Amino acid sequence: MCGIVGYLGKRDAYPILIKGLKRLEYRGYDSAGVALLDEQGDLRVYKTKGKVADLEAYVADKNAGGTVGIAHTRWATHGEPNSTNAHPHVANSGNLAIIHNGIIENYAVIKRQLEAKGVVFHSQTDTEVLVQLIDYVQTTRQVDLLTAVRIALHTVIGAYAIAVLDKNNPDVLIAARKSSPLVVGIGDEEFFLGSDASPIIEYTDRVIYLNDQDVAVIRRGHDVEVVDFYNEKVEHDITRVNLNLAQIEKGGFPHFMLKEIYEQPDCLRDCVRGRINSEANHIALSAIIDHKERLTKARRIIIVACGTSWHAGLIGKQLIEQYCQLPVQVEYASEFRYSNPVISEHDVVIALSQSGETADTLAAIELARERGAFVYGICNAIGASIPRATHTGSYIHVGPEIGVASTKAFTGQVTVLAMLALALAWERGTVSEEEYVRVIAALNEIPDKMQELLEQGEKIRDISRIFTYARNFLYLGRGYNYPVALEGALKLKEISYIHAEGYPAAEMKHGPIALIDEEMPVVVIATQNALYEKVLSNIQEIKARHARVIAIVSKGDDTVSQLADAAIELPSTEECLEPLLATIPLQMLAYYIAVCKGKDVDQPRNLAKSVTVE
Ligand code: M6R
Repeated sequence: MCGIVGYLGKRDAYPILIKGLKRLEYRGYDSAGVALLDEQGDLRVYKTKGKVADLEAYVADKNAGGTVGIAHTRWATHGEPNSTNAHPHVANSGNLAIIHNGIIENYAVIKRQLEAKGVVFHSQTDTEVLVQLIDYVQTTRQVDLLTAVRIALHTVIGAYAIAVLDKNNPDVLIAARKSSPLVVGIGDEEFFLGSDASPIIEYTDRVIYLNDQDVAVIRRGHDVEVVDFYNEKVEHDITRVNLNLAQIEKGGFPHFMLKEIYEQPDCLRDCVRGRINSEANHIALSAIIDHKERLTKARRIIIVACGTSWHAGLIGKQLIEQYCQLPVQVEYASEFRYSNPVISEHDVVIALSQSGETADTLAAIELARERGAFVYGICNAIGASIPRATHTGSYIHVGPEIGVASTKAFTGQVTVLAMLALALAWERGTVSEEEYVRVIAALNEIPDKMQELLEQGEKIRDISRIFTYARNFLYLGRGYNYPVALEGALKLKEISYIHAEGYPAAEMKHGPIALIDEEMPVVVIATQNALYEKVLSNIQEIKARHARVIAIVSKGDDTVSQLADAAIELPSTEECLEPLLATIPLQMLAYYIAVCKGKDVDQPRNLAKSVTVE
């Protein structure tokens, strides 16, 4: 939510800032702005409603010189998206500009206090309160910028990553974080700031991931200095980021989402690489090796996650319960944090998150740790807050996911959960060797089978055209494929704005059947597994009510194919791994329907890639 970029160095800041904003646009895209200190030392601020391209067009004929600047792309929290509420916000003195990602929870109280002292506000945002507060502290107490920022941060409650630019200190940028991510890039006599490393990697691979309550002082000609809110020096590591530009560009695809759908076979190969030893038919996850005792002796597993990651968690529950014979609970992280959950030191909490920055999931981890649970993170973004907040974990290694609708991260999460369930079951002695080896072999075959499915892209595009004008969709699945139905419905909602619901197929007759008529297409995952006959009966019931059926069927299943209006064939695999295949046509269906409707697939309205606020 909201993207932050900063630059201080020897080049023109503006082109670097704009390029950086474009890379971070997935985090929010309702308005954007930039603040620069030009060669004369004047502070120039340009802001527009809309996307980064709108900002670029607006600035095209203006003075955008200067070698220091900050820029922001917004996902509105306080105040509608317009150019006044867009960041950067400038203090009344005209000296300070700030960009912010997060929420200042006590902004209303601070605003009232400042108004009582005569400070006038111009926007509806919580962010303006922070810059006016820093300005007020600086002018009334006659302190330097760093001290003013620290004092102000002592006063505010909430989540933030900020960068502050000061007209009177043209060679300094101050950055700070609490619960929102911020990365400092270190180049050759130049420094960069980013909400993540993507705007930085083009210039340097040396970064500092700031921790909570770190304040970074970036000064021309000096090393970066990090202090805490009490001005105590904080030791920091300079990390090398292993990301390349190709990973964060579209590579010839019209959208990141389509690129990421097509990347899945390679992503899954990367995900299992070094973890599955095919010759020895064995899975080695370092987290399980390092914490064998704690993990194998767990009495219960609680999975916390949000959105698509929560759907992956539902599949994880079935995998762990089937193979490890351990009870598993799956909780929305947002509910878990406020539910006063009963947790003991015998519990293992698995936190699933693509971005590794989701505020609700982070809060759930904090609570679980406070109550003595051992926390295992499964994340994609390397070095993000969640991997750093957990006791141990496994990265999914699917590369940066830029499309707001999660695709490859979901299949990556399910793959890690499958490996975790099998490896833990092996250690606990709850899986037979024959089954362990068979499922590992099947997992190894998944990337090739995904490839086979992706080759049906054109067919799925043709199917999607028929269904573009539907206003409601129902998605049905059972067992391992019930979470796939939920995920298929979420994908369609997110990017096409068509209302869609996922249900366990057997629940259909307990309510949703009332909705079914010729105008309501039903997507049914009807593969030949233990519940095949029952799902077949559901399809008959749907057809009897004249609805059109799109069926995901096992390869060669003529019975369902003939009954359905459209059928997509899945290569066969182990039942527990079917979600890895069945999800792909549903991702493609959602994608092509959204494209047919002319929607902005990569940046759907109201959404943001990483939900760093509650
Ligand atoms: O980064 P996370 O996995 O923690 O994000 C959780 C959800 O916000 C995310 O999965 C969301 O539902 C996506 N937009 C799904 O496509």
